[in-house]
Amino acid sequence: MSPVIETGQTLRVFFEVEREIVRTLSTLVPRVGDLELKYRLCEHVWEAAQHARFLRERGRELGAFGSDEGVRPGVARPFDETIRHEDPLECLAALSQVLVGGLRNAYLSYLEAAEPLADWPTRNLVREFVSDAERHRLELEAWVGVRGSSAWSAHVSAAYCSLGGWNDEVERRVLPEGFEWLSDREPYSHPALPSRGPHPTCATAFGDDPAEFPIVRSWLTDPSTDPAIIRVMIYIWLMNEADAVDYLATIFFDTPTAPFDYHFDLARHLWDESRHSQFGFRQLPRLGIDLSTIEQQIVLYDVLVRMAPHERYVMVTWHFEASSFDIKAEVMDRVRELGDFEADTLLAFDRSDEQNHVRYGHRWLPMLLELFGETRDAKTFAFETAGRFNELEAEASARLGHGLPVERRLTALRIQEQVEAAR
Ligand SMILES: [Fe+2]
Ligand SMILES: [Fe+2]
Repeated sequence: MSPVIETGQTLRVFFEVEREIVRTLSTLVPRVGDLELKYRLCEHVWEAAQHARFLRERGRELGAFGSDEGVRPGVARPFDETIRHEDPLECLAALSQVLVGGLRNAYLSYLEAAEPLADWPTRNLVREFVSDAERHRLELEAWVGVRGSSAWSAHVSAAYCSLGGWNDEVERRVLPEGFEWLSDREPYSHPALPSRGPHPTCATAFGDDPAEFPIVRSWLTDPSTDPAIIRVMIYIWLMNEADAVDYLATIFFDTPTAPFDYHFDLARHLWDESRHSQFGFRQLPRLGIDLSTIEQQIVLYDVLVRMAPHERYVMVTWHFEASSFDIKAEVMDRVRELGDFEADTLLAFDRSDEQNHVRYGHRWLPMLLELFGETRDAKTFAFETAGRFNELEAEASARLGHGLPVERRLTALRIQEQVEAAR
């Protein structure tokens, strides 16, 4: 076979493996409670999506890549299996150490075999992927530790080896006697509620009563509100975009046949929201705010995970994001009075990212409607979905309520007290 064709086919397998990392690593985002780990996973999902895009681009130059972008069952199966342990850290260990570790080895064996001058462009890319894989492994070490030697990783390793690995990095081995594919038993389902580890949760951070909620919209737009209070409120708003992180992360797995470019934009969207959440998570303690007094909002996840993927997507892009610009513009103007360069910068980037998210929404909704056999036009669909969302949200808000008693909870009035005391 022509070495060019052969390389194109190998890159196709690597592309499918990176796509599967995006599709399954993302399912762990709402399952892990540590926000630092959520953020890392979103970043790794985004980087895997970038790898896949480079592989597709280079693979297409070489031919034999194929005109479709689907993942073959033999590649998808061990990934489907990996996320079936009830402990998300076991899933993460097996995924990163066995399946992603296997990809790193496959990249290394590819680098060894490839002709340095003839295939310089591919080798250059693959070297980058190997160093990303190495960094990812180190970044996850604190969470997955020694789990790689667990029974679950051995189970996943048996599945991976039975399919012959990704390239030639592993010997094909028959499955051990009695091996059972848990992924054959029942379809995967996302958790009903996202995990937030030690953090208290609540339905929503937004409300009208300053003695009950931390973010009061009328305060944000009232010219007499101290801008230092507005700054704390907008950081709490941003931190609570972790709610978006958790529900956006569920869409990849639920749309396995969507075009890769959709997953690419969605991975970017997910990573952006995780950055926005980090803006608040990192800045609030610097302003003297104790994070353990802030309830984390989870109502949107609770409702949206019960709705279909195209309904989740239209709610976030056509409704939540599209309607946030006016109030955020007013907030930016007020925060500017503080002369806080860092806050101005974070808010400006948040705004720019959000404009892209709304564009993604308009670009991809028609594709999703077709994928799910939706016959209503986009506008009617968006309008009617919002109606259904509002009904579900009213019930969920009442059920989820507050996770902290009012005396231990950060509210708008307490923000005011703390800002005044810090003067
Ligand atoms: Fe955001
Ligand atoms: Fe957004």
